[in-house]
Amino acid sequence: MKELGGTKKRKVQLCLGLIIVFAGIAFLTNSASGHYQDQANTLDSSQLENGHGEVAFRKMMEVLTHNRCINCHPSGDRPLQGEDSHEHYFSVQRGPDNHGVAALRCESCHQEENNNYSGVPGAPHWGLAPKEMAWEGLSEQEIGAVILNPVTNGNRSLEELVRHMTEDSLVLWAWDPGVGVDGQPREKPPVMKEEFIAAVKEWAAAGAPIPD
Ligand code: HEC
Ligand code: HEC
Repeated sequence: MKELGGTKKRKVQLCLGLIIVFAGIAFLTNSASGHYQDQANTLDSSQLENGHGEVAFRKMMEVLTHNRCINCHPSGDRPLQGEDSHEHYFSVQRGPDNHGVAALRCESCHQEENNNYSGVPGAPHWGLAPKEMAWEGLSEQEIGAVILNPVTNGNRSLEELVRHMTEDSLVLWAWDPGVGVDGQPREKPPVMKEEFIAAVKEWAAAGAPIPD
């Protein structure tokens, strides 16, 4: 009898132990993936991916439509400046190679780094985006089409586009834009750099959708 009682006790302990372990696992998995499970209940997996791509697209576009990018991707033949995107001082022109006319080259003022004393911004290979890469006045969907089309994106594959947007010195300058001639720091895009880089990669991984 004593022995039987002991076995029963051990069985009860074992059962209790297992219940606690399973409850723990259930709790952990639930809190880690509860959010996705909720979505997965109503969406199939391809819709889920598109949903992610759409969120990433919107976040990416908050940056691409910001003045730090648009000022260098104008539809006209002059760079734009400042938070109100006024035309560049000194009547600076695009010129035949997007680096200005012979008498007034971008690089005669813009160096490889910001000059916060004179207020001239700078980064390696400073120049105007070619006219086919103009985004000024376009909708998010139209910009999306421009950056995906090899005819208007400098003949880049999706992979090369991602690399440009996550590594190019002119793109990254937007998060270190320096101080203007008025002594005021230039505004940064509304999305943090790391978050933007993640959004670009996520958008591409989801098949680079252009949602309405
Ligand atoms: C100082 C000027 C300048 C700034 C600022 C700038 N760009 Fe550009 N951008 C260029 C130039 C020049 C090219 C063309 C380079 C090439 O094709 O190699 C270009 C090309 C591109 C391209 C590839 C072509 C296209 O339009 O599809 C993308 C994407 C791009 N820029 C994204 C950005 C983003 C995002 C920002 C802001 C965070 C930005 N750029 C800010 C000058 C600029
Ligand atoms: C004579 C000197 C000079 C030349 C040449 C020049 N720039 Fe500038 N640029 C400036 C100064 C100064 C500023 C800062 C203006 C301010 O802070 O209000 C500026 C600002 C800019 C900005 C504004 C950045 C922003 O987001 O506010 C862009 C874009 C720009 N230049 C592009 C160019 C391009 C492209 C060229 C060549 C085609 C060029 N610049 C030639 C002096 C020059």
